[in-house]
Amino acid sequence: MKPKVYVTRRLPEIAWHELIKSCQVDVWDHETSPAPYQEIKTRIHDKEGLLCLLTDRIDAELIDSAPELKVISQCAVGYDNIDIKAANERGILIGNTPGVLTDATADLTFALLLAGARRLGEAIDYVKAGKWQTWGLTILLGREVHGRTLGIIGLGRIGTALAKRARGFDMRVLYYDITRHPRKEIDLGIEYKEFDELLIESDFVSLHVNLTNETRGMINKQAFEHMKQTAILINTSRGSVIDSEALYQALLTKQIAYACLDVTDPEPLPPDHPILELPNLIIVPHIASATIESRNKMALMAVKNLIAGLYGDPLPNPILAT
Ligand code: GLV
Repeated sequence: MKPKVYVTRRLPEIAWHELIKSCQVDVWDHETSPAPYQEIKTRIHDKEGLLCLLTDRIDAELIDSAPELKVISQCAVGYDNIDIKAANERGILIGNTPGVLTDATADLTFALLLAGARRLGEAIDYVKAGKWQTWGLTILLGREVHGRTLGIIGLGRIGTALAKRARGFDMRVLYYDITRHPRKEIDLGIEYKEFDELLIESDFVSLHVNLTNETRGMINKQAFEHMKQTAILINTSRGSVIDSEALYQALLTKQIAYACLDVTDPEPLPPDHPILELPNLIIVPHIASATIESRNKMALMAVKNLIAGLYGDPLPNPILAT
């Protein structure tokens, strides 16, 4: 008998193929809407495996409704949606998909940095609105990127990959992390700064931390007060790392120049959210890892984690208890 699993979204073909070879699969088969919490809860009561996305809230109550559950496999690198402690206490294995989305995410981060610096969102709207009458010396002026200072908050895989890209653009790169990385400082020619100092000195600030109790709201009113008025803030980590109200005020009062966000709080933003009215903001819908290659690899890795756990093998990418 193949083990029974619940999958909260249809997977790319290559991963789906692998999954059905080894498991009896029940799936939430809707591309653009998340499986409702109650639906997941009902569906997993007789399942041994759960393959979920970052949009699914996997809390203690939900975990308790699945007495057979052995493995939770998250198809994402971040896992702040899962109550890790509750799963650990019940002996459930958990996996995620690190590494395979690092370059795609760093690329999108740099794309946002460039888009903010050169006001691409406004420029595209300008042409579409029929405002392009002539070439003008003062039309849609942005800011240069080369020679400017990038502050990276969180020097993990993605922060490091961003630093490499920034060096290629002749940027000065600063970083803040809870631990120093002396080897990377030498190899990448980057400088460690305390959090406040980094905010004070950076022209671009990019966030690459996990969402935890410590990082939730770390970019708050006080942080914005430290930043340059010309600063551009980029977030491809999790929306709640920024205090949303403080961000709105900082952009409205031009305390900082611009924000470029792949993630928001709440996520998704309701279409009538006041922040969407602001001109100095670019938002894309959490697409940092959205390349065909990365998404195929993520889904395959999530399937491999799930199958390994169900068949008694070590997970290739386990999330270990902290
Ligand atoms: C995307 O945000 C991920 O955590 O993989």
